[in-house]
Amino acid sequence: MKLTFAHLTKQYGSFTALEDFSYTFTPGVYGLLGPNGAGKSTLMNILTGNLQATAGRILLDGTPVQELGAAFRKRIGFMPQQQGLYPEFTLEHFLWYMASLKGLSKKQAKEEIPHLIQLVNLNGQKHKRLGGFSGGMKQRALIAQAMLGKPDILILDEPTAGLDPKERIRIRNLIAEAAFDRIVLIATHVVTDVAYIAKEILLLKQGTILDSGTPPILCKKLEGKVFLVNCAEEDLSALAEQGKICNITREENGISVRILCDAPPPNAVTCKPDLEDVYLRNFE
Ligand SMILES: Nc1ncnc2c1ncn2[C@@H]1O[C@H](COP(=O)(O)OP(=O)(O)O)[C@@H](O)[C@H]1O
Ligand SMILES: [Mg+2]
Repeated sequence: MKLTFAHLTKQYGSFTALEDFSYTFTPGVYGLLGPNGAGKSTLMNILTGNLQATAGRILLDGTPVQELGAAFRKRIGFMPQQQGLYPEFTLEHFLWYMASLKGLSKKQAKEEIPHLIQLVNLNGQKHKRLGGFSGGMKQRALIAQAMLGKPDILILDEPTAGLDPKERIRIRNLIAEAAFDRIVLIATHVVTDVAYIAKEILLLKQGTILDSGTPPILCKKLEGKVFLVNCAEEDLSALAEQGKICNITREENGISVRILCDAPPPNAVTCKPDLEDVYLRNFE
């Protein structure tokens, strides 16, 4: 399976939200990483057919998705960024409703819904109304509906928004499990959401791809440029002039500063770059 974006451009009036975006996706998890306004949701909404591209096209195994029409839409599962949930529905009712909107047969829905509820760990909550769900439970309910019909392209827009760290980890593991044999696109501005589970990361800024590749390849580009310096708090402003500060931790005597710069500052120890460094390098 091969999903290809070819020279996709989206303009809102005279504003360009996505510019000449080209990329090919194969099964695996992809992290669309970028700050707010980068164009992540725009890209996903074009893919799902909720928005029309100004130029360019999307092809599935070489066929334009517009030509495939409903046959394409059947193959995608979408978790939108906005939580458009039905507060009066119970979880089970919601999933049955979504299954009927997606055109699943009764038999299919009956098979899949209990399994999905189990998968997102909401078995005890299936008769509860969505209005009373916590943020994390709502996100999990939305992931479950996206997986109805066993779509082979899963599109998740900010799946961990508003969640606490424990819930983030749970959602991340759930996505990693669901990724087998599927194309999974995850939009996020949170590096840790995709750092460990993504096959490839696309760094998006103002509608264009700044860089892309596997996490090790992206990190390797910063090799010999990330340092750890132990110093006194008074030295921080002088140090900040030499590079980009990634992180500061308080030590027993003074502070430990993680810094990105081309040449090592005095008394620096070289560190192995990680994706947080890559993010800072590109976006801060
Ligand atoms: N309907 C719209 N009309 C005008 N501008 C829009 C519209 N939707 C999004 N934008 C703009 O397009 C840019 C990309 O938005 P979006 O795709 O939502 O980014 P992201 O999801 O990465 O935060 C932003 O600058 C946003 O303000
Ligand atoms: Mg968005």
